[in-house]
Amino acid sequence: MKISSSLFQKYNLPVPRYTSYPPATAFNTAFTNVEYLEQIKSSNNSVSQNISIYIHIPFCTQRCHFCGCNTALSQSEDRIERYINAVIAEIKMVAQHIDKKRLVTQVSWGGGTPNSIDLAYIRQIMDVLHAEFAFADFAEIAMECSPAYLDFADVDVLHKIGFTRISLGIQDFHADVLEAINRKAPKCDVGEMLLYMKEKGFRGLNLDLVYGLPLQTPESFRENIQQIIQLQPDRIATFSYAHIPWFNENQRIMEQYRFPTPDEKLDMLVYAINELSANGYEVIGMDHFARKDDDLAIAKQNNMLQRNFQGYNTRKTTGQVYAFGASGISQLNGSYTQNIKQYDKYAEAIESGSFAVERGYMLSNHEIIIRDTINEIMCNGELDFAAMAEKYHCSLSEFLEITQFNVSKVRTLIDDKLIEFDDNKLHVTPQGMMIVRNVAVAFDPAFKFKEDQYSTTI
Ligand SMILES: C[S@@+](CC[C@H](N)C(=O)[O-])C[C@H]1O[C@@H](n2cnc3c(N)ncnc32)[C@H](O)[C@@H]1O
Ligand code: SF4
Repeated sequence: MKISSSLFQKYNLPVPRYTSYPPATAFNTAFTNVEYLEQIKSSNNSVSQNISIYIHIPFCTQRCHFCGCNTALSQSEDRIERYINAVIAEIKMVAQHIDKKRLVTQVSWGGGTPNSIDLAYIRQIMDVLHAEFAFADFAEIAMECSPAYLDFADVDVLHKIGFTRISLGIQDFHADVLEAINRKAPKCDVGEMLLYMKEKGFRGLNLDLVYGLPLQTPESFRENIQQIIQLQPDRIATFSYAHIPWFNENQRIMEQYRFPTPDEKLDMLVYAINELSANGYEVIGMDHFARKDDDLAIAKQNNMLQRNFQGYNTRKTTGQVYAFGASGISQLNGSYTQNIKQYDKYAEAIESGSFAVERGYMLSNHEIIIRDTINEIMCNGELDFAAMAEKYHCSLSEFLEITQFNVSKVRTLIDDKLIEFDDNKLHVTPQGMMIVRNVAVAFDPAFKFKEDQYSTTI
């Protein structure tokens, strides 16, 4: 597959990324602790039965100036301990309402930097999870780590705790770019670290890159891609940096440096897609690539890919997501719930004996159908309208009314051979998967085109 720049130029429109449907911008404060408790109880009767857990550790040893995540500079041991105790209390509060026959198939740790705190805290929380929930034999336990603080001894500890998958935030291999974004270089050689993890039995090893950072050039980014191909991780993510200093104050500091132009960013993205595709990586979806023998690529080939706030997943390990910690988003069958973002306020709420819900969203039956439709397109690029109608016990015309799909909405995509549409079956071509959110938006009746509300692809 060879991608051209003109594809992105034509379809570079501000549409949602559909990490969730409805997007997080629709969450509201009418959804409170009371609704969350009801949702936890009723989630026992929903499909899927599997449990997926997300743990948020907001702390970082150093704040990277480009960062868009919910983070806080590491504080005193007392404050970290208070936070860990709150997470443990929240786990126990939720677990008492969960049907013990349901199995945990996935635990994801994100942040912030979970490996910036003493790994004894990680073990402590994992022990509580094992005591409170039943785990499936094949459970995937994953952590997002900063390589700046990770050494071989830490990998040994994570392995002993039961971790099976690790993602490393590389962002860029060049010292000048790392300095401009206020980030330390990896503590150990990344290639040796990946080999070591593989020998230990870790799977689905991922490296993150970001394009559009200060001082990056098309040439330097090409070097990043070549270097990452040499390293042969199982998975690669290439995220587009969005400069929004009015929202993320810390990004303003980088304005003293030269940023790549939009055309240069486009060059970086197109180069990444074409080079990675030519070197044994499958395009999984927006920003994500996996080696052909990786579980994600296999799930994609079998139309079994899933996606949630933690990224792409294989269906067998994905269930309903219960999130713990500040800013964590739980994704149950009928709702989304987001916790208080500020970690001290989150701990305070939990210490008072209640949940720490800040906002959320209750989905209507129609929205559940639309969510599933958009998910099928975003993950697998396939949609059989009749099968979808049957799944939700409605007629084809009702399905079309619910999604407000009309073939005129995708006419340009058909003409550009980005999708094939025949007999109420839609197939997204490999090129079309690169702008898949432009396809999904045709099934989103709530979408109103508003400049600046959503990021563009590049
Ligand atoms: C929680 S961090 C990963 C773990 C660890 N904190 C680290 O930085 O290595 C999640 C990832 O989000 C991506 N990210 C963070 N801020 C971003 C931004 N403003 N634009 C694009 N990607 C971003 C980075 O690739 C980063 O690796
Ligand atoms: S990129 Fe990672 S290490 Fe840097 S501030 Fe964000 S979460 Fe922390």
